Amino acid sequence: MKVLAPTEENLVLAAEAVRDGKLVVIPTETVYGLAANGLNPEAVNRIFAAKGRPADNPLILHVAHREEAKSLTTHWSEVAETLAIALWPGPLTLVVPKAAHIPSETTAGLDSVAVRCPSHPVTLRLIQLAGVPLAAPSANRFMATSPTRVAHLDPAILDAVEYVLDGGPCDVGLESTVLSLVSNPPTVLRLGMADAEAIELILGGAPERGSDRRSPGMHARHYAPKAQLVLVDRADEGVAALVLRPSSSPFHLQMPGDERAYAARIYHELHLIDRQGVETVQIERPPREWSAVWDRLNRALSPP
Ligand code: TXA
Ligand code: MG
Repeated sequence: MKVLAPTEENLVLAAEAVRDGKLVVIPTETVYGLAANGLNPEAVNRIFAAKGRPADNPLILHVAHREEAKSLTTHWSEVAETLAIALWPGPLTLVVPKAAHIPSETTAGLDSVAVRCPSHPVTLRLIQLAGVPLAAPSANRFMATSPTRVAHLDPAILDAVEYVLDGGPCDVGLESTVLSLVSNPPTVLRLGMADAEAIELILGGAPERGSDRRSPGMHARHYAPKAQLVLVDRADEGVAALVLRPSSSPFHLQMPGDERAYAARIYHELHLIDRQGVETVQIERPPREWSAVWDRLNRALSPP
């Protein structure tokens, strides 16, 4: 494994590795991804093995442009086109009917496929150079916290990959919103930081929450650090805590009071907490309206 600075020369190397069926860690605006050629079943199987992920958990195909997304589906609706024009590149994944040439390994046997155009110049360039869509789950071991920096990567993931492309800290910090367009009306399978107002406007109303069963990857416990997390209204003075108000306790870390900034930071703090071997961390309840942040906190809190 080699960590590469994202120069054009290095991106050419990484693209060759992808075409050879190898694994590469890629930066995206949401979280780092564990990528391989999404049209190569052996390469896709390597992703599942490296993550320790059950084979019934489908992957997202990452494309550089919406024209490429069209080639991966048998039905690109007007709604899909409008959403992609408005919100791509960005943290929105669309589930659409799968084209026949996509291996069933990638979609875990489903007849739908998840596609997303990520907003990160390094990965967009890599996809162009590789000339194939990149299958990429978050680059963590199954059920662990997603990495938002290269420093968060698990040694087992590093061992399994040819290259790590370092694109710096992820701007968004939470996994993409997953919107299913194969259900009628469309449903949100995973909450994320995609512009909810824009989605509502395009769909002509707020999409319903889909059940976890329709998205096999949505286990209740997920995104979880090793430390025990406890939600509180106001953290105790002498214990490790992520707080929302100024505090003089040396054990407290003040988190941003703004949803976007909080989302961008939370996984980083959870990774640091695990590195320090802290056993229990209190987390002050963020505002109710931060739905994607709440979704991840609830999953991280959920008992094993
Ligand atoms: O932000 C992200 O989406 C990151 C970056 C790397 O792009 N990727 C990511 O992938 O979070 P992953 O594999 O950790 O999560 C993909 C989610 C899972 O919940 C999975 O069940 C769902 O998307 N999914 C994938 N294909 C699907 C399909 N055909 N139907 C329903 N859900 C699907
Ligand atoms: Mg994941």
